Amino acid sequence: MPTVKLNNGVEMPIEGFGVYQVSDFNECKQAVLDALDSGYRAIDTAQAYDNEEAVGAALKESNIARKDIFLTTKVWISNYSNAKASVEESMKKLGVDYLDLVLLHQPFADYYSAYRDLEDLYKEGKIRAIGVSNFYPDRLIDLVSNTDVVPAIDQVETHVFNQQVEAQKYMEKYNVQIESWGPFAEGRNDLFTNSVLTEIGKKYNKSAAQVALKYLTQRNVVIIPKSVHKERMQQNLDLYDFELSDEDMKNILALDTKKSLFMNHESPETAEMFMNWSKN
Ligand SMILES: NC(=O)c1ccc[n+]([C@@H]2O[C@H](COP(=O)([O-])OP(=O)(O)OC[C@H]3O[C@@H](n4cnc5c(N)ncnc54)[C@H](OP(=O)(O)O)[C@@H]3O)[C@@H](O)[C@H]2O)c1
Repeated sequence: MPTVKLNNGVEMPIEGFGVYQVSDFNECKQAVLDALDSGYRAIDTAQAYDNEEAVGAALKESNIARKDIFLTTKVWISNYSNAKASVEESMKKLGVDYLDLVLLHQPFADYYSAYRDLEDLYKEGKIRAIGVSNFYPDRLIDLVSNTDVVPAIDQVETHVFNQQVEAQKYMEKYNVQIESWGPFAEGRNDLFTNSVLTEIGKKYNKSAAQVALKYLTQRNVVIIPKSVHKERMQQNLDLYDFELSDEDMKNILALDTKKSLFMNHESPETAEMFMNWSKN
């Protein structure tokens, strides 16, 4: 598995396994066990997914050495006022005594105080890297300019229909690694049967899904696809024996609508929604 080197020298696999919307304990535990068995060594969870205990149970049962797993969680906005305690709680649920990466999940509420808590935990050696999620260039630049530790990662919605070319440029300018959430756009826009992706895939004997993921890793975007089906988990890992041509890359670039298929983080409605959630 290729790796990327973060701005503090820590290496992480370019591909991991995401567990959003797998909140049933047994289903999540089994999915993580299947993912580890398929070869994934990075897991992306979050306090808000309500499955840290299930992830922890799978890690324990797998018997894979802690140092061989790259474990990420995210602090939810309602915990920003006590981020430190919430991360300690996450570690307890996950059954670990350090985390590889902790992200602030959303750029709303008192994220400066939460980020400073993450900086403290980082300096204490409890977290190997810290970062953010859903921070678009305006907020990312502001944060980078007013904190000690430059975020190692910014995890944002990134897939063939919303490619984040502009955001990635700014992340690279500030030495922040881009990580994609929703690398399949959760299947929206009929991604899995898209004709451009399917036609390109035929040349390499790969599915549209594999082409969609390969496009991202070839642009140096970290990916964390989710599936609860082992055959798909394996398919989604089988990306490293082919390269998309320049022409393929150009044709896929043309699919970019530069718009979110989920929510616009810069709209007042979104801000109000998160303000309400931050109180829960
Ligand atoms: N930071 C954030 O705000 C944020 C937001 C969303 C997600 N995330 C993270 O990003 C991860 C990935 O995003 P996501 O879970 O939203 O969606 P996604 O990975 O884009 O798509 C998941 C969907 O694709 C299907 N699928 C997976 N592989 C497939 C294949 N080879 N062929 C056909 N269908 C396939 C899955 O179905 P089955 O499961 O039925 O196979 C599931 O319905 C999450 O799990 C989470 O860790 C972060």
